[in-house]
Amino acid sequence: MNILAIESSCDDTAAAVVRDGRTVLSSCVSSQIEMHTVYGGVVPEIASRKHVEAIAALADRALAEAGITRREVDAVAVTYGPGLIGALLVAVNFAKSAALALGKPLIPVHHLRGHIAANYLAFPQLEPPFLSLCISGGNSMIVDVAGYTDMTILGATRDDAAGECFDKIARVLGLPYPGGKPMDDLSQGGDPTKYPLPRAKLEHDLDMSFSGLKTAAVNLIHNAAQKGEALDLPSLAASVTAAVSDELIPRTMEAARRTGRTVLTAAGGVAANRTIRANLEAACRENDLTLYLPPLSLCGDNGAMIGSQAYYEYLAGTRADSSLNAYANMAI
Ligand code: KG4
Repeated sequence: MNILAIESSCDDTAAAVVRDGRTVLSSCVSSQIEMHTVYGGVVPEIASRKHVEAIAALADRALAEAGITRREVDAVAVTYGPGLIGALLVAVNFAKSAALALGKPLIPVHHLRGHIAANYLAFPQLEPPFLSLCISGGNSMIVDVAGYTDMTILGATRDDAAGECFDKIARVLGLPYPGGKPMDDLSQGGDPTKYPLPRAKLEHDLDMSFSGLKTAAVNLIHNAAQKGEALDLPSLAASVTAAVSDELIPRTMEAARRTGRTVLTAAGGVAANRTIRANLEAACRENDLTLYLPPLSLCGDNGAMIGSQAYYEYLAGTRADSSLNAYANMAI
């Protein structure tokens, strides 16, 4: 079954063709990063306009690169939330029109379910049940994936996402947007114990918080600037990364202990972080868990992950019609 999948939830326009949920025939991404860099973050209105400009040509390119014609598309899938509402609406309306014009089913996909499904593309042997640590620019959560379409959030951030924490601190340091990768690069060789930064303690102990860490790091940078003190930047980046890692990994191990799950996957842009990947590997070794880490190309937003999840949504009977709407927030 060939699924044409469209995604525009934030600042990447993406289109892909995926066969039977596991084989990527094409995956095209048009990034808007350059456009938003000037502003130090995503400007929603600009994102929506750029999606409109890119989407039709990108879908055509995805079909051409997959080597299939429009007639060979069996279903159209689209991310319908969560994300920036104006941005989401572009792909939703495009997909509705495409499904109608082609006379094929329309399959709505939750963005984070897509991030989790990116692992199916990289690891053919992976099947639920497993736990997934979903860490992106807009979300951070530990999800119990009991079945392909049966998921429960065990813990989530109470405020900022891990990616946002990296991005905001990076912005104050004058690093390029999005700041996760530059922070990752900067942290290499730094001393992660040099700057003591807070770790959150929450009532619901599988939930996380990143806003206190973000504020503490920003204050530290501003105070140093006011006093004219030079910071050891690699060590600061390493200390921030260690704090983010401490927020995520022990809770994920605890979630595994409580649920008895023995397989863990990671998902989302922050799963590309070298320190977090290494710490996850070490923690899984220690706790006898099998870990699947998606390749960097599948960590960030892409259409292929939506096409993968869409296949399983289709098998479960999920369909949408032309009344499909987009949602900025939605349960998994
Ligand atoms: O999954 P994604 O591409 O988009 C969302 O759905 O949010 O994630 C983007 C986030 C950004 O915050 C970016 O700074 C972060 O992932 N990121 C990283 C790294 N690469 C991307 N964070 C830490 N280390 C990285 N190497």
